[in-house]
Amino acid sequence: METNQKHLLLLHGFPLSPAMWNRQKAAFAAAGYNVLTPELRTEQSPATMRLLADRAIAAMDEAGVPSAIVVGFSMGGYVAFEIADRFPERVGGLILTCTKAEADAEEAKKGRKELAANVMERGAIAAADSMLGRLFSPKTPDRAPEIIEEAKQIILSSSPQAIAAAALGMAERSDRTAMLSGINVPTLVIVGEDDAITPPHIARDMAAAIPGAELAFIPEAGHMVNMEQPEAFHNIVLSWLNRM
Ligand code: MLT
Repeated sequence: METNQKHLLLLHGFPLSPAMWNRQKAAFAAAGYNVLTPELRTEQSPATMRLLADRAIAAMDEAGVPSAIVVGFSMGGYVAFEIADRFPERVGGLILTCTKAEADAEEAKKGRKELAANVMERGAIAAADSMLGRLFSPKTPDRAPEIIEEAKQIILSSSPQAIAAAALGMAERSDRTAMLSGINVPTLVIVGEDDAITPPHIARDMAAAIPGAELAFIPEAGHMVNMEQPEAFHNIVLSWLNRM
């Protein structure tokens, strides 16, 4: 298959949707890229990373895209690792955003199961209550409160079944640390300086383990870097793509 680096595959996080990429769809399309933002939400449970990778590949097939730069945000990063492992010929490069290679520890798995049960009982609002406080830089509520409301609405747009399925799928995911040293496509690691979910030291260690990877920190951003600091995010991504 021919590699065509003009395609970007943007993989959304949890408990979010492709709508988290609205600003990027516009900015990257304006820069000449074909942007795919597949829907990873599914009520098929557990929504394993394998299943989500298959959905992303199906979206590429449907769009006739042989190979893309895969931009994985958080859960989307877990899916990007799965794609790089099983479909390496479809990956022209990786942009690992606010994500990590480690699997969940036992405590985290327990938390996922509790969240899934809460969401099934109370609805998507339980996921918003549990996640919203941790998704943003402490500076964002004052600087850009509308971004938090936007993220809340994205979370509330998901069915409880889909949120629970993704939580249970992430709990089952494999540890990918052993594959980092074998990644042989250009890779950029991005993290928000105030990311409380996948903190900067995780990004630093991950970038150090991937041959030739570049690392970028975005100030005044928490986990939701692309929504909190879209311009910084676009500049970093586009400048790296131009240098590729
Ligand atoms: C995400 O943003 O996709 C999630 O925070 C990832 C996770 O919970 O591990």
